[in-house]
Amino acid sequence: MRRIYLDHAATTPVDPDVVAAMLPCFERDFGNASSIHSFGQDAKHLIEDAREHVAALMNAGSEEVIFTAGGTESDNMALKGIAALHHDSVRDNPEGPHIITSSIEHPAILRTCEWLETRGFVVRYLPVDNQGMIDVGSLEDAIATGTFLVSIMFANNEIGTIEPVKQLGALCRERGVLFHTDAVQACGKVPVDVRSMNIDLLSLSSHKLHGPKGMGALYLREGVELEPLAHGGGHERGLRSSTENVSGIVGLAKAAELAKMRMGEDMARLMSMRDRLISGVLDTVPASHLNGHPTKRLPHNAHFRFDAVEGESLVLSLDHEGIASSSGSACSSKKSGPSHVLTAIGMDGIQAQGTLRLTLGRGNTDEDIDRTLEALPRVVAKLRELSPLWEGEE
Ligand SMILES: Cc1ncc(COP(=O)(O)O)c(C=O)c1O
Repeated sequence: MRRIYLDHAATTPVDPDVVAAMLPCFERDFGNASSIHSFGQDAKHLIEDAREHVAALMNAGSEEVIFTAGGTESDNMALKGIAALHHDSVRDNPEGPHIITSSIEHPAILRTCEWLETRGFVVRYLPVDNQGMIDVGSLEDAIATGTFLVSIMFANNEIGTIEPVKQLGALCRERGVLFHTDAVQACGKVPVDVRSMNIDLLSLSSHKLHGPKGMGALYLREGVELEPLAHGGGHERGLRSSTENVSGIVGLAKAAELAKMRMGEDMARLMSMRDRLISGVLDTVPASHLNGHPTKRLPHNAHFRFDAVEGESLVLSLDHEGIASSSGSACSSKKSGPSHVLTAIGMDGIQAQGTLRLTLGRGNTDEDIDRTLEALPRVVAKLRELSPLWEGEE
């Protein structure tokens, strides 16, 4: 039985072209980019070429891209690096200078915000509506004199809702507040343009776009200052010291180049498979519901709630059928308790336990959707037979 992978929001397979681009970096182009000999200079050129491809994916200047070790590091760098510049006013202002974020951010943002709160910063967490959408007006009301940074994700990793980033960015620009967006799930999947969207800082991660793991980037708009997290040899303009991961950088760049080149075609294919999957599930599985926004959602994300079914059991049963899925985000799947995203969109604990995330990728085919649409109603019905909560079709 061919296994079907429907968990691309957790991670993606590395594209064969990316692997091919990376391989020479291990044996031939292994130099340290800081060395002045030809091995070092070759590595340096690879890095600078790569920077251009990553910048092009989001319409940034290449000098505005800082390579990091992933989305988590980029998020930490953005928030702590900007907050550090406001540290002195923490002492002067008992109210604390503040950051505004949302209640549905990834833990890389939420845990960082909580840590900043222990250091005297005030963080406001904006609510979302029942489709996971931030209201631009609520940000407008929340921005106050002490606000120095707003961080709102581009698209949610669980329910796939795409936030009104351009309007949020415009508002921040108008009010003189820096705007960061965690675009880990969006970059390479939907068009991202840091200029027209008024973005000052942006986090991306390579392994979500068919690149290698442990690699990411932070976009830092020219002129925006940042305190580094890691001090050392002064790499990446002194903002991120450590000998460059040349193979990872080259892999991310190739993945970014492919994503940009294929975006139109990939989006159309993914959206058509996603929509067939969504309508197929809603039509054939009784008491099933779509979570997230019906149209403003990532092209590859389908997120469902099923009455009286336990999400983890569903994931395990589907795995038995050769279909890899997720009951929440990969990062929270080891945690007990309902997901903070599902709670924020108004689900109670029981409802939040009955969810399933199916996220598609470049390698999926129509046949994968057919097999999923055949297996899912059967598996849900079987689990309901055992469920004391199931009272029959509504
Ligand atoms: C929205 C979002 N932000 C940040 C991250 C963390 O990225 P990384 O795994 O590269 O550290 C993830 C990973 O799932 C994510 O979905």
